[in-house]
Order: sequence, then C-alpha cells, then structure tokens
Amino acid sequence: MSWDELRKLDELRNLDELRNLDLKKLDELRKHSLNELKLRIMADNYLGKKMEDLQNRKKVVRTKGNVKSLDTLLLKNRSCRTWVPSVKVTEEDLRKIVAVNTMIPCAKNQQVLRFKLLTGKAAADFCPFIKLGALLPDMKFPPEGCEPSAFIIVCSTVPENKWVDIDLGISAQSMLLKATEMGLSGICIGAFNKEEAERVVMSGLQAKSRSILSGKGEGVADVFFLEPVLVIALGKGAEKYQILHIAENESHDYFRENGIHYIPKVRAEDLII
Ligand SMILES: Cc1cc2nc3c(=O)[nH]c(=O)nc-3n(C[C@H](O)[C@H](O)[C@H](O)COP(=O)(O)O)c2cc1C
Repeated sequence: MSWDELRKLDELRNLDELRNLDLKKLDELRKHSLNELKLRIMADNYLGKKMEDLQNRKKVVRTKGNVKSLDTLLLKNRSCRTWVPSVKVTEEDLRKIVAVNTMIPCAKNQQVLRFKLLTGKAAADFCPFIKLGALLPDMKFPPEGCEPSAFIIVCSTVPENKWVDIDLGISAQSMLLKATEMGLSGICIGAFNKEEAERVVMSGLQAKSRSILSGKGEGVADVFFLEPVLVIALGKGAEKYQILHIAENESHDYFRENGIHYIPKVRAEDLII
C-alpha cells in the first residue's frame, strides 16, 4: 500500500470519528491549538517526503573491492616485455582469460578464433620463437631469466582476412584486459615464428585426435585448418611505464629512461578529425 493510500485511510478514519462527535466535543476539538494541527501536517509532510525519497532512491550498485574501472585497466594494460620469474601463470589462469571470448563481438558472430595454451616447459620452449622490443635494438627482451611464464597462440580456423583481423584485435585486447584485472601483464606479439607456432598447435592436436584420424590416411592439417595469427605472452609484470601525451607530429617511438618505459600516445584532441 502506498504512502498516499495510507494517508487517505487515516483521513477517512478521522472523518468517521468527527461524525460521531457531539457538538461539545467538536468545540473542544476546535480548541485544540492550530499549532497541533500544523505540527501534524508538518510531521505528515516530513514522513511523506521521507517515504517518497526512499521510493525514488536509485539502487546504489556497489562494485566489489577488486573490480577496477575501465580507465584504470586500460592504463595498467601496457605491453610488457619483462616478467617476474617466480610467478607462474597456470593453465586455469589462461582458461579464465580465454573465457572473455564468450562475451565479445565478432563479425557475423562466426567465432573463428581458437586458442592454444602454453604454460610451464611448453611456454619456456616457445620463448625463443618470439621477438620483442624492435624499437629498442640495443636491449634484450625479455631479459635473461625474466621470460613470460605462459603464451596463448591465437589461431584462425579460416584463412586470415580483414574480418578475422578485426575479431583478433577485439579478442586480444579483451584477453589482455582480463589478464590485467587478474594482476598479470601481457603483450601482443606479431613477430613470432609462424612455422614453430603451427608445429606446436598441430602437434597438440595430433595427440588429441589420433583416434579420429586412425585408418583414414589423413594428416591433422587435412582435417583442421588452424592458422596462428597472433601470440600473447603473459606473466607477472616487472616493468614501470609512463604514457606521454604527444601531438600527432611528434615521434611515436617508445623508449626507456632510468628504468621507465615511456609510451607516447597522440592526445585525444589530435585524434578527432
Ligand atoms: C597487433 C600487435 C602486434 C604487436 N607485436 C609486437 C611484437 O611483435 N613485439 C613487441 O615487442 N611488441 C609488439 N606489440 C606491442 C606494441 O609495440 C605496443 O602495443 C606499443 O608499443 C604501444 O605500447 P602499449 O601497448 O603499452 O600501449 C604489438 C602490439 C599489437 C597491438
């Protein structure tokens, strides 16, 4: 029952009582100070207003302690090239990261991307097949002993095309943001050895699908089309970053000074055409 309805009921009850009063009593009632009536109206208004406030109050959505705002995540999500060796990313971590792909858009909803997870020895074995920090040729990345502890090899089930690449960008950034939320740091790697990535992906499938293929005389490659299109390296980051806001005609090259990795980003005003 609403507050207004309650108040109306209350008024009706008062009217009823009034009808049953004799004149003397009515006179007594009149003598009741106007102030009392005023007070009642004020109390009524106060309570009514409080009730309305309560009803109109917007639901406050409280974020859990560890949920970060998008800007915080985006800023934290810098391309990492040095990792803490003692922290090992697990396959379970990677599965959580890949799970973001069940929540993101993709062209015609075709979901053509697949993900090979590498942790432990498999990740360590793959590390020599990536290239990091092309703009800092005098430095070695990752530094010896600071390698990423996991990789995701992103594959396409159709030959790479414009739509696959757009899907890939959305997928990669979503996975990196998830990793950041989990306290990990990663990097997209386009400079990887494609043959080795293919070999790793296919050898995993070979082991899995021996039973499907047995007696058919087919190789795994005849059955599955999987083209490695990007590698994501992951681990616990060990770098400090600073974004520099630049004009569009200034150098875009990232650089390092006193242990800080500087990343120039064209300021928003210059991006809008
Ligand atoms: C598609 C793609 C491919 C990349 N490939 C490499 C790579 O092969 N090696 C590397 O060191 N960084 C690579 N990067 C990371 C970029 O160098 C990095 O995004 C850029 O310097 C800006 O830094 P930020 O990610 O911290 O904003 C790649 C990034 C993207 C998006």
